[in-house]
Amino acid sequence: MAPRKVAKGVYWVGALDWDRRLFDELIPLPDGTSYNAYLIQGDRRVALIDTVDPSKVERLLDSLRDLNIERIDYVVANHAEQDHSGGIPEILEAYPEASVVATPRCRELLMDLLHLPEERIKTVEDGEQLSLGDKTLEFIHAPWVHWPETMLTYLREQRILFTCDLFGSHLATSDLSVRDEGEVYEAAKRYYAEIMMPFRAVIRRHLERIRELEVDVIAPSHGPIYRDPSFILKAYEHWISDEVENEVVIVYVSMHGSTGEMIARLVDALMERGIGVKPFNLTVTDIGELAIALVDAATLVVASPTVLGGPHPSILYAAHIINALRPKLRYIVLITSYAWGGRTLKMLRETLSGLQAEIIDSIEIKGKARERDLERIDRLAEEILNKHQEIGIKEE
Ligand code: FEO
Repeated sequence: MAPRKVAKGVYWVGALDWDRRLFDELIPLPDGTSYNAYLIQGDRRVALIDTVDPSKVERLLDSLRDLNIERIDYVVANHAEQDHSGGIPEILEAYPEASVVATPRCRELLMDLLHLPEERIKTVEDGEQLSLGDKTLEFIHAPWVHWPETMLTYLREQRILFTCDLFGSHLATSDLSVRDEGEVYEAAKRYYAEIMMPFRAVIRRHLERIRELEVDVIAPSHGPIYRDPSFILKAYEHWISDEVENEVVIVYVSMHGSTGEMIARLVDALMERGIGVKPFNLTVTDIGELAIALVDAATLVVASPTVLGGPHPSILYAAHIINALRPKLRYIVLITSYAWGGRTLKMLRETLSGLQAEIIDSIEIKGKARERDLERIDRLAEEILNKHQEIGIKEE
C-alpha cells in the first residue's frame, strides 16, 4: 500500500484491512477497517504517529521505505491497544534512534503488553510540546477514549489533530478523506456505539477542550480523515447529548412463540401511538446494529422466555453488553414468559443494574399469552407513550 499525502510533509502510512470481520473477537466489522499511521517530516526531526495492527506491519515498513525514511526520531503512541501499538517493536528495531512518546500510563501498558524497554519510552505531560523543527507536536491527554492511557496529538502549524480511536470508523475504503458523508456517518456511529458510548460523559469534556483548538483536519486511526471537522464534531455532540428520541428498542428471543406473540402485539401498539420501534430478534441480530439503535432510544424492552430457571442465554449475553455500553436510555421494560417458574426478571434486573434508567414495568406471563395479557401489553404501550411525553420528546 503506497503512502498517501495528507498535507505538506504529512503522509498516511497505514494499512487497509478489507477482510477483517471481527474486532476483539466480539465486535462485527461489516465494512472491514483501517489502521491509520501518519508520518510527519519536520526539517529537523521525523515523527511517526501510531503504527498498525501486527498483521500489517510489513505494509507500514514498505510505506516508510517508499518515502525513503532513513531515520525516525519519535514514535508517538497515542494509545497502547495493539491495533495501533502492535507495530512499535518492529519500528524500534528498524529505526534504532527512535524513542516512543507516550503518556506515563501508556508507558506502563506498552511495557506490559509489548515488553518495550523502558529506556526507549519518553513520557510527555498534558500540554507538552515537541519540536520537529518547523513543525510542533502538542500532546493532549485524553484518558478513557476508550482506555485510560490515551492522548491526542496536535500538529500546531498545520492544524491537524490526530485523535487515534476517537472519531474513528471501522471502514475500509479507498477514500483517504471523507467523500461519502452518509457512508462515513453510519460507520462512525457504529464505532461510537460499540466503543465510545460508555465514555459519553468523558468525551463531553474532551470535546470542550478540542473546541479551544484551531483544527482544520481530524485524522483518526480508523477510517477516513475529516477535512471538515465540523461534520464529525456535530455528530458526536448529538450522540453524547442527553437528548433521547421517541424510540423503543426491543431485544427478544422466542422459543415456542409466546414471547414473540407479545412482542408482535407491542410493536403494533407502539407504532399505532407514533413511537419508533426497533425490534431485534437476537437469533438473527448483528450486535453492532443493536448498539447503534441504543445511541438515541428512550426506552429498552427486554423480553425472554425462561430457560433452565433464568433468561435465555442470548438475552443474558445481550443484557450484559447493553449494561456495559451504558446507553442514555430513560426507561426499561422487562417481559418474560415461563411454564413452571424461574428467576428471569430478577436476573435481568441484576444484569442491567448499571443503567441509569427507570424500570417502568416487569411483566411475567405463564405459558401462552391470554387476551388479558395482550391487553396489558396495549396498556404498556400507552404507559411508554405517557413516559415519553413526560420528558418532552415529540411524536414522529
Ligand atoms: Fe483502535 Fe482502541 O484501538
